[in-house]
This record gives sequence, structure tokens and C-alpha cells, in this order.
Amino acid sequence: MPRFPKGFRWGAATAAFQIEGATAADGRGPSIWDTFTAEPGRVIDGSNAHVASDSYRRWRDDLGLLGELGATDYRFSISWPRVQPGGTGPANPAGLDHYERFVDALAEAGIAPLATLYHWDLPQPLEDAGGWLARDTALRYAEYVGLVLDRLGDRVDRWITLNEPAMTTLEGYALGTQAPGRTLMLGALPTVHHQLLGHGLAVAAIRAASGTAEVGITNNHTLVVPASDEPADLVAAGAFDLVYNRIFIDPVLTGAYPDLSAFGLETFPALEPGDLDVIAAPLDFYGVNSYNPTYVAAPAADSEFALAGLPFEPVGPPAGTPVTGFDWPVVPEAFTELLVGLRRDYGDALPPVVITENGASYPDEVVADADGERAVHDVERIAYLDGHLRAVATAIEQGVDVRGYLVWSLIDNFEWAQGYTQRFGLVHVDFETGERTPKDSFAWYRAVVADQRG
Ligand code: NOJ
Repeated sequence: MPRFPKGFRWGAATAAFQIEGATAADGRGPSIWDTFTAEPGRVIDGSNAHVASDSYRRWRDDLGLLGELGATDYRFSISWPRVQPGGTGPANPAGLDHYERFVDALAEAGIAPLATLYHWDLPQPLEDAGGWLARDTALRYAEYVGLVLDRLGDRVDRWITLNEPAMTTLEGYALGTQAPGRTLMLGALPTVHHQLLGHGLAVAAIRAASGTAEVGITNNHTLVVPASDEPADLVAAGAFDLVYNRIFIDPVLTGAYPDLSAFGLETFPALEPGDLDVIAAPLDFYGVNSYNPTYVAAPAADSEFALAGLPFEPVGPPAGTPVTGFDWPVVPEAFTELLVGLRRDYGDALPPVVITENGASYPDEVVADADGERAVHDVERIAYLDGHLRAVATAIEQGVDVRGYLVWSLIDNFEWAQGYTQRFGLVHVDFETGERTPKDSFAWYRAVVADQRG
């Protein structure tokens, strides 16, 4: 493994709804994901997150694992419906107590918190009032962020406003494959703007509450690869890049939305004067989640994409490309190309990058080792992580300022619409008993971190 810069941050990431369980504990209110998972047919295995990885109760176990791993950082998320159960009004002290205890214990263990303020668990009452289609949700979000900062601002110094707003728009409001399950296609575009406005207002709230806080956003990015050199595929790839990547990064880093005339739009839906100044507030770091490239072609005439008026269609990778348990193509070079492309396209407007998620799901199984110990031999995950870390090192060599790498995920958890069928953890979780079993990838990553930290 090449040497990473001194001071590089090493760790792992999780999100509240995916790991915590205890969805009725200590006054937590319902979120859109509680509603979505309760609807038949939404989650592939019919499961919900009432228990998940049981981390609301077992957080000391998770902390112990982070310590063993030698992590410098832990990225976790704070659950809005625990802090402000109805999405408006006063804070719920019991919800905040939980995170305060946790953050204090992290500090004692010498692990730096990187707290995500919104990882998809919108309070249901706000969805009932329009969700991210409503401008008011951005204001409510900033108010919630203020409540979190009031309590934790003296002990958490790095904040991520939003996690992957693209997925909320695309899966949540355009395609309906994630909560809240709306199928509005291009009608989902106002949710882009309201999330980004919420981001900008949250940055202001954090700056107002703390003079030392560092703030970033986490966007998911994919390297878009045209399926062929045919002009139609090149145009399609450009259009996909616009709605997947650029409408979520351009306004944040450059203060402008990209030209959407390819979608028949003259101006960005829901944009009001002054909003872009709020959205483009300077950031201390830029969080990148990335897993795989996406191959894109012009849509076949009878495809659901063409029928929905979309000028592109994602297609499978070239034959022979290895894939993960999710069928996601494993192409580490694409990760380098993506990062180098961000630096090329945004130049000095790109803040230092933190890889806030990267990892892979595989159908891991617990076996008994020769000595009778429980073990998980996840050789494919080790290969994935090894390849992608090297890809990050190459990007750094090529001039991209990457400051940290966080594996998704510390532990197996509730993978949204895939329920418990996709395991991303460095640590296996038995979802019947909650038992944690570090996988071989955990030992591998621990050795990398120990070596790099010296
Ligand atoms: C992105 C999301 O932030 C996270 O919640 C999800 O589990 C992983 N990617 C894997 O799909």
C-alpha cells in the first residue's frame, strides 16, 4: 500500500436509521423510513429497522470495535426524529442525551466524531406537509440543526449537513424506490433545490453556533461512462451526469446550477433570488461517497426511461467486469478518474476531499475456524477495499487533496430497500441475536491503519 499523507484520517461510517433500531425509544418520532418500510412490497425482504444492528443499545460494542480498528474518525448520523420528534418545536432532551453520551465516549477513546445531520430519516409530519418538495422543509431542517448544535456544538467539531441528496431526489421522489416512495420523475427537481437550500441554511446555523466547527456536505458521485463512442450515447452520458452529479455539486461549489436545457428547462425549479448565495457558502471539506462507475446509453425507444421522457438509460458494465453482491461493477481506476475529474472540473473551488463512504456488499457467511472461533473470510471485500484505497492514493499523487477515507460500513446494517440482504460491514452482525463478528476485512483494514498511522 502506498503511503498516505501524514495526518490522513482513517475510519468507518454508519447512519442512524440503518444501525440503531429502538425506533420507539426515548420519545423518537416516526420518520419517512418507518412509514416506507411498513408498506408491503417496498423492502425486498419485507423487513424493517425496528431492531437493525441494535446500536442504540449496543453502542458501546460499536465503540469497542472502532477502538480495536485503530480508527481516527467515526462518521455516524444523528436522527432528526429522535432530536425533534415532530420535525418542529422544541428538542427532545432524551434523544440528544443519547448522542451526547456517545460523543463523550468517543472523545474518551480518542476517536474524532464526524456527524451527519441528515441521513434520510425525515420526520414523517414534515413529509405530510410536503417533504422536500416544500421550501419550508429547508427552514425546518436548519432549525433542527440549531437544536443539535445547541447541545453538541461544544463537543463535535466536524459536521456533514446532508448525505447524498441525489438519492433522496432520484430514488425517493423521482423513481419511488426509496422513502418517501414518490414517482414524480422530473417533478422531483424542487427537492434538489430545497435540500441544497437546507444545506446552505444549516451551514449558516453551524457557523453561528460555533466559531471552530468544520462543515461539509456529502454527495455521492459516479464516474459516468458512455456505453459507446456513438454520439447518441455521449449525449445521454452527459445528461445523466447533469442530473446525478452536477446539479448537486455545481450550486454548492460554484453558486450556479448547470444548464438543464437538455431537459427542456430554462431555469431551475423552485429557485428564488438570493438562494444560490446561501447554497454556495464556503465549506471546509467536501464529502465524496462513491462505489462504482455508471455506464450510460441513449434510451431504447420502448424503455421505461424513454417513456418517462428521460434522455438516458443506465446499462450494465462491459462483459467480464467483476461485480459486488449488489451487482455493482468493481472498477477501482474509475475512482481515481472520478477524483481527478473533480479537481479538474472545479479547481480551487473544490475544498479538501474526505471519502465519506466507499465499500462493497457481499453475501458473507460466518464459519467456524480451525480453533472453533467464528470467522468471516471476505476476501472479495478486502480486494475491493485494497483496490479502491490504492486508487485514492493515485488520485492524491495526481494532485487531488484527499484528507480521509471512511469505509462503508463499520458493521452490517439495514440497507434501505434491500433490507438485510446486502452486507457492507467490516464486522458481521447476526440480525437475530445482534452478535458482532469482525470479518477478515476488519483485520486487514486494522493492519493498514496501524501501518499508515505508524
Ligand atoms: C450510500 C448511503 O449513504 C448509505 O446509507 C448506503 O447504505 C450505502 N451507500 C450503500 O448503498
